[in-house]
Amino acid sequence: MISKKTKKLMIPGPVEVHPDVLRALAEPVEPHYGDAWVEKYQRVLSLLAEVFNTKGDIFLMMGSGSCAIDAAIGSSLLTGEKIIVGNNGFFGDRLVSIARRNGLKVVEVAGEWGKKLDPQDFSKAFKKHPDAKGVAVVHSETSTTVINPVEEIGPIARKHDAVFIVDAVSALGGLPYDMGAWCIDICATASQKCLGAPPGLAPIAITKRAWEFINRVETNAHGWYTDLRVWRKYSIDWADWHPTPVTMATNIVNALLVALEQLMKEGIVNRMERYRRLALQLREGMRAAGMPPFTPDEELNPVLTAGYSPKGIPSSEVVKYLFEKYNIQISGGLGELKQKVFRIGHMSPIITEQDISLVCNALNAFGK
Ligand SMILES: Cc1ncc(COP(=O)(O)O)c(C=O)c1O
Repeated sequence: MISKKTKKLMIPGPVEVHPDVLRALAEPVEPHYGDAWVEKYQRVLSLLAEVFNTKGDIFLMMGSGSCAIDAAIGSSLLTGEKIIVGNNGFFGDRLVSIARRNGLKVVEVAGEWGKKLDPQDFSKAFKKHPDAKGVAVVHSETSTTVINPVEEIGPIARKHDAVFIVDAVSALGGLPYDMGAWCIDICATASQKCLGAPPGLAPIAITKRAWEFINRVETNAHGWYTDLRVWRKYSIDWADWHPTPVTMATNIVNALLVALEQLMKEGIVNRMERYRRLALQLREGMRAAGMPPFTPDEELNPVLTAGYSPKGIPSSEVVKYLFEKYNIQISGGLGELKQKVFRIGHMSPIITEQDISLVCNALNAFGK
């Protein structure tokens, strides 16, 4: 039986968070400096380093994921330089905008919405534009659920001496990560998705190689807050008492710390496997309900699934039905996929098999 009172947030972020994560938010406000704070802040960074799988620097910017992406692109490339940007969805398009507004010349590698970017297209783009200094790609394209092959695109960027920037906003904490093996130089994400914390923080990881790009021109600046050199300066100069240039959102950092400790307790590999199993369960249920997944099972996104709305019915009807009848909040399609698909986020660390069954049963009841 489906309880009509059950309230479930299953959009592609923000996600439902663990009660202990919420409790951390309610702790008294504390200063963002001093010994105790520095120790806690460093602990958060060291846990994030395990999730990013990097030995590089990590900063915890305050803002949403877009803030970290802006910082990555704006800090590592100079006005007028060329960047090759993969674009096969709404957030690929956002990357293009961010690059343009930082004064860069954008070479778009366009891909069909719903299909993975083709690494060969990046090699071809470098052939035409050997002077390109950067490559940027969305890892998990939240608008289509497609996972782009960053592990194949990274080595191409490396071969052509370009900095490789990845938008991991809906990927980090939901997919196994290896910045080193995949040649990712800067990786940007957000607290409110697979990391299982509330919105407000934008973790960013920067490798030694990326600093070579960032350090090139002292006057290169596309802002102050988003200049990664500012964040590095304070992390060094004030390391022992105030490791950030600005006042930190200490309560959200506390909440993220609890969420990261829970992830470590479960184990990164175990959690990723659990997500994959839940994704398969959901896919099966969607097929049974006559609303098949938008992408094939072999290319499943472990934390996010889109499904076709029944023929002739706009997907907003499915979204509305689940919300009004079952108090389950899912999302509609974005851009080209508006009204064609609905999207179900299962990137919350507290999602269970029962939650997935609830959604499957609700979908199954649609139109009956
Ligand atoms: C892949 C991807 N990139 C970027 C963003 C933008 O993130 P934010 O809203 O945290 O700025 C999102 C948000 O959904 C996303 O899914």
